[in-house]
Amino acid sequence: MKADGRIGILISGRGSNMEALLRAAEEGRIPAVVAVVISNEPDAPGLRKAQERGVETLLLDHRKARDKEEQDRRIVAALEERRVDLVCLAGYMKILTPGLLKAYPGRILNIHPSLLPAFPGLDAQRKALEHGVRYSGATVHLVDAGVDTGPIVLQAVVPVEPEDTPVTLADRILEQEHRIYPEAVRLLLEGRLNVEGRRVRILACRERD
Ligand code: GAR
Repeated sequence: MKADGRIGILISGRGSNMEALLRAAEEGRIPAVVAVVISNEPDAPGLRKAQERGVETLLLDHRKARDKEEQDRRIVAALEERRVDLVCLAGYMKILTPGLLKAYPGRILNIHPSLLPAFPGLDAQRKALEHGVRYSGATVHLVDAGVDTGPIVLQAVVPVEPEDTPVTLADRILEQEHRIYPEAVRLLLEGRLNVEGRRVRILACRERD
């Protein structure tokens, strides 16, 4: 992976993780530029936030595509046109088709608000509370064909407090998401992730070369 990576971010909503990545890129904490932010939802607040930061945005409304494959073909075309080499899913609420996965093998990251493999899919914070776990957290993982199943890059743990609601727990987890997502992106762009099956080894800087 080149040190001057070009990132494409896919969002569906608020875009706070997208903002964390944009900030990290602006501040030089990740060796990359964000080439484009793509939303499948016209009303995603993240679209305006990206525009305000001067980043190119693209609305690719999935309702306007014939099927999932066509939607992902449009996404791949947009990413390739902008010479994107790393795709970050940031609250992107669609399952990727094999076409998109094949276009970016090992180069798609996702952030999820639980300690995977616990509580994949939607409503992870509510599921964690209902299950009664004492700790939850955030996971950054490489994306494969399953739902939140790919090799784990980084995790952060937060306590679950007795008075927590899904909202208070989500806020506590989100703080950690914003910390570990840029960190995972940096490691990947620096070529410091060694993936063997499900296990991701993080190389020290000097091990990389
Ligand atoms: C984040 O908590 C992210 O982990 C979660 O959606 C939220 C998006 O917030 N993603 C998933 O649940 C994916 N399975 P954001 O739009 O403010 O980044």
